Amino acid sequence: MEYSDDIQLKKRFDLTGHRAFVTGSARGIGRAIALGLAEYGARVILHGVAESQKLGSALESVRKLSPDSFSVTGDLGDPKVPAKIAEQISAKCELPDIFVANASVQFRTPWNEIPLEEALLQMQVNFHSTLMLAQLFYPVMKAQKWGRIVAVGSVQEFRPHPQMAVYAASKSAQENLVRNIGRQIACEGITVNNICPGVFATDRNDAALSDPVYAKQVTDCIPTHTYAEPADAAGAAVLLCSEAGRYITGANIVIDGGLRLPG
Ligand SMILES: NC(=O)c1ccc[n+]([C@@H]2O[C@H](COP(=O)([O-])OP(=O)(O)OC[C@H]3O[C@@H](n4cnc5c(N)ncnc54)[C@H](OP(=O)(O)O)[C@@H]3O)[C@@H](O)[C@H]2O)c1
Repeated sequence: MEYSDDIQLKKRFDLTGHRAFVTGSARGIGRAIALGLAEYGARVILHGVAESQKLGSALESVRKLSPDSFSVTGDLGDPKVPAKIAEQISAKCELPDIFVANASVQFRTPWNEIPLEEALLQMQVNFHSTLMLAQLFYPVMKAQKWGRIVAVGSVQEFRPHPQMAVYAASKSAQENLVRNIGRQIACEGITVNNICPGVFATDRNDAALSDPVYAKQVTDCIPTHTYAEPADAAGAAVLLCSEAGRYITGANIVIDGGLRLPG
């Protein structure tokens, strides 16, 4: 067997020519992933529930790295919205060949008090919209014989929070979907993976973590004793979306400072 020493790793990370759609990329982890994909050359399609100052500011930052990037909007709690988002994208460019399902909703409620509406909304945004959007983008990926789907899960797949039973279940459902689809479309040049954040300093955790007693309880459980920054999720996402990650599919990459590990 002859081995080449010239593995051209930088080139394998290059995303020039690809169109990457990241849901919930106005802020937090989605914004950092969008910036990472733009830095590596992808044309990024940002997304928020509606036009907002944060979406505008994320787009401005992404455009400095990838000038043709643009944004779309829509509430993924509405089952009709995935198709409307695809229409918004189609009006500006071909449908994406990189899809990062990052947006989610999360409620804290004791499991025996969760109202059906709350359960359905979490499943719609966190699970069904991922399936619907993947179905919409799959034909383009299949035709290109190249595609990347990355779902953003949660460490709650391993350690479900007692007051977030449906949120945790929605993330496990999504991770199961990733393995199922990943196996079926690997032969078409399309990889499907899950990344699994632990505790990240983002808007959704602001209120809870601003209580120093609760914050210490949380960091005491994390082997690194620190939270993650949104950018900590970007490296894994870029790897999975690039040629460098072409042989990784159906995987679950946990980014949690060791939080999932038994104590
Ligand atoms: N932060 C953590 O510690 C942590 C831990 C584990 C997993 N995660 C997962 O990582 C992902 C990103 O989390 P994050 O903390 O960065 O979130 P975040 O700061 O709360 O931002 C959420 C993003 O999702 C969008 N979004 C919310 N509801 C939506 C809806 N109904 N339809 C469409 N978009 C909606 C928001 O849009 P607008 O900006 O327009 O409101 C926002 O851009 C989520 O899937 C989350 O479950 C996060």
